[in-house]
Amino acid sequence: MKTIIGNWKLNKTPLEAKNDIKTIFDYSSEKKINSSVFIAPPHPYLGYLSDIYPQYSSQILSQNSQEFLKGAYTGHISPKMLHDMKVKGSLVGHSECRYMNTDEGISHTLSSLEEESLLCVLCIGESLEEKKSNQGLKKLTHQIKTNISHTPLKGKLMIAYEPIWAIGTGLTASLEEIQNTLEHISKVLSEKSLNVPLIYGGSVDENNISEICSLPKVDGVLVGGKSLDPQYFIKMIQKLL
Ligand code: PGA
Repeated sequence: MKTIIGNWKLNKTPLEAKNDIKTIFDYSSEKKINSSVFIAPPHPYLGYLSDIYPQYSSQILSQNSQEFLKGAYTGHISPKMLHDMKVKGSLVGHSECRYMNTDEGISHTLSSLEEESLLCVLCIGESLEEKKSNQGLKKLTHQIKTNISHTPLKGKLMIAYEPIWAIGTGLTASLEEIQNTLEHISKVLSEKSLNVPLIYGGSVDENNISEICSLPKVDGVLVGGKSLDPQYFIKMIQKLL
């Protein structure tokens, strides 16, 4: 059973979000496909989509959240709000929002999500500079150690390996790079007695999804740009049948 997550980032009108999420989830529920399909719409649509499609709320993720449960934190979104909106959980630490979160803050966010019984998809990845100077694995080890420092998360954590240089660039890590990196991540996690699903993200499309998902360490994919057209995304889901 593979996981496929569509990250819509800052895209779609409310009407497009309403129609497209229905198209995707109607397809995946009718076809009884053998994979878990999630969509992470923009924040303003979370409560709305979850209200109009309660049958699909457990497949909706937030694109980010912060550690604070409530208070004077302008512009933030809390795990408690996600819980109250009945969505499934949140991406955390995506490279496009790490500028708002410290490593320490991310570790608190993981604990807060756990407290609210929400799924956390922790995104980690190295920059091109780090890759070129052979610092990539070190960076990932650091992110895992600092981002998962507070709670022994059980069953509510997934890790998305997303090399920053592969996001939205059309470049993907080679199959060998993905496999070796996920083996490294598993090893670091096992030192913390954690065994969690690992997914890959970074320019995944309908041409590379099958071979990426056939790698033994890959439990699924996180898809950005190619999740925006619902018919195209459905074609990607079909590759996992
Ligand atoms: P991409 O984005 O598929 O457009 O590379 C992936 C992501 O940012 O999660």
